[in-house]
Amino acid sequence: MHGDTMNSSRHESDFLVIGSGIAGLTFAINASQLGTVNIVTKKKEFDSNTNYAQGGIASVLSPDDTFESHIEDTLRSGAGLCNRASVEFLVRKGPDRIKELVEWGTRFSTSESSRGSQNLDLGREGGHSHNRIVHATDLTGREIERALLDKISRIPRIRIFEDHTAIDLLTEHQLKKPAGYYRRQKNRKVNCHGAYILSNRTGEVMIFNAGITFLATGGVGQVYLHTTNPDIATGDGIAMAYRAGALIADMEFIQFHPTTLFRKDSVGRCFLISEAVRGEGAVLKNTRGERFMEKIHPLKDLAPRDIVARAIDSELKRLGDSHVYLDITSKKKSFLQKRFPNIYEQCLEDGIDISADPIPVVPAAHYLCGGIVSDLDGKTTIENLYVSGESACTGVHGANRLASNSLLEGIVFSHSAFLAIRNEMARSKAPARIPDYPPWNREGTFDFNEWVLVKHDMDDIKRLMWDYVGIVRSDMRLQRAHKRIMFLAEEIHSYYRKSIVSSRVIELRNLATIAKLIIRSAIMRRDSIGLHYNTDHKETDSETANVVLRTGYQPRFIRLEKTNPMDGKWVKVPANPAQPK
Ligand code: FAD
Ligand code: SIN
Repeated sequence: MHGDTMNSSRHESDFLVIGSGIAGLTFAINASQLGTVNIVTKKKEFDSNTNYAQGGIASVLSPDDTFESHIEDTLRSGAGLCNRASVEFLVRKGPDRIKELVEWGTRFSTSESSRGSQNLDLGREGGHSHNRIVHATDLTGREIERALLDKISRIPRIRIFEDHTAIDLLTEHQLKKPAGYYRRQKNRKVNCHGAYILSNRTGEVMIFNAGITFLATGGVGQVYLHTTNPDIATGDGIAMAYRAGALIADMEFIQFHPTTLFRKDSVGRCFLISEAVRGEGAVLKNTRGERFMEKIHPLKDLAPRDIVARAIDSELKRLGDSHVYLDITSKKKSFLQKRFPNIYEQCLEDGIDISADPIPVVPAAHYLCGGIVSDLDGKTTIENLYVSGESACTGVHGANRLASNSLLEGIVFSHSAFLAIRNEMARSKAPARIPDYPPWNREGTFDFNEWVLVKHDMDDIKRLMWDYVGIVRSDMRLQRAHKRIMFLAEEIHSYYRKSIVSSRVIELRNLATIAKLIIRSAIMRRDSIGLHYNTDHKETDSETANVVLRTGYQPRFIRLEKTNPMDGKWVKVPANPAQPK
């Protein structure tokens, strides 16, 4: 076991956790039983998607509910592309992990049972056939972060580095090897030994070495113009893993949340109106006051998200409107203030009393179903590199995530990764030697100080993704998006190579990679399924499989559930790639 050693430019610990949301923090707490843990996080410790989660965590906790029902709801929502074994694992392990969060100090909302005892209050959300959403009013994520960070502050083996941004993973590719080395080592797996980390305060780039590196960097919402995600959601972990050669899958499945507060001329983060509001009886209406979900799905306003978001999009286009309405005026003010204190207050600040007025809403980018391919133990295709949470593609979401299954995925797979690592550590005698990685190379870089260029490129990416790779796609829009992103990505790459590294430049580089991965996956999938809807291919192809990406190779269709993704032939991308097939 390593001590938590450091000098000014090198840190060493048994575990390096990148990200301080639910996936990273729950893993760190358990891993600290096995050794020292360094957590790096690019802003403040609570800055994460987790912190904004409203609705709650789905789990089977009511005697009226069953595992089979939660499994079926998840599979139905995933439109045939879920991995059944992963879904069963997710659902069956859920209740113990919720219990653990409570033991660690999370205070979920309770309600009185008929026998007078206090039980967890279980809400309802779209696509669920039972009430099974554990929540802390409408501030579930904030309460979870508070409890986990409070627990961590009492564990001396865990150290949190705020304002530290991971740039790239340390794998053998960073070591200088003679030409042809990797070709000769064909079947040798790549190992991860930590990451290059930038201190956003001092500008220094340090080496953080670790026996195990755990990626928990969250989602990609910032690649879109309108998103519920905070600034941190730039897909850094996925882009880093892709560059290091890990397999990535299902990137075309971007979930748009149907209901965010509509504000005229607003750009940037959108305030979410939780699906739990519809779970308590809110209904969607167009600007003529007509309910439109009744004609579209038997679950009406509580249909799965892809269906509700598309129905709103179609209503906006049909009537030429900028928003629809969500109406919860059937509920009393006192109930709404208690159940949704955050939403009630935020809307009031915008001049809307939700007990009297319908809420103007629009869809916004919310969640990435795909990510870094991993197994039930959170293992990626790179040795000693694990992943959990929104950055992972475990196969539980398929083509469309069921509401409130994301926080659940984070706690379940972070725990299974801990168990697998504990078993492995018990079996192996000595930790593997970590090679001596070269310090960060600043040669040939300058402080351009050209923020206007960075901002411009970021805006261009967000706008092109929103306009061409949104809720409804077409071949022409995707081809146009591809052409533009290839040009932008090249420009950004060359700027990155010449610039002194900074968090904004790192994020810009990663956003360009993420946009490319989403667009290439969307072009590959020539049918419509779940969250991917292409007006030129409206049918669902029942033989369809996952789109899997690997750096340097053409994307491939692989049914991840049934095939080892490393088997078979990967076709190299030509040096100067034309349009992807
Ligand atoms: P995050 O919580 O996003 O944490 C990622 C961490 O990685 C952050 O600390 C970030 O700073 C850090 N990081 C990123 N890049 C770097 C880097 N390069 N270097 C260092 N650190 C880095 N899901 C549900 O199941 N139920 C809900 O009710 C729900 N509500 C939601 C409401 C909103 C508004 C949003 C945005 C999402 C919601 N989701 C919900 C989705 C869910 O919150 C996320 O999928 C989940 O929290 C992701 O957890 P995570 O730990 O994987 O990532
Ligand atoms: C919400 O509260 O509507 C968000 C739930 C989720 O994304 O799972």
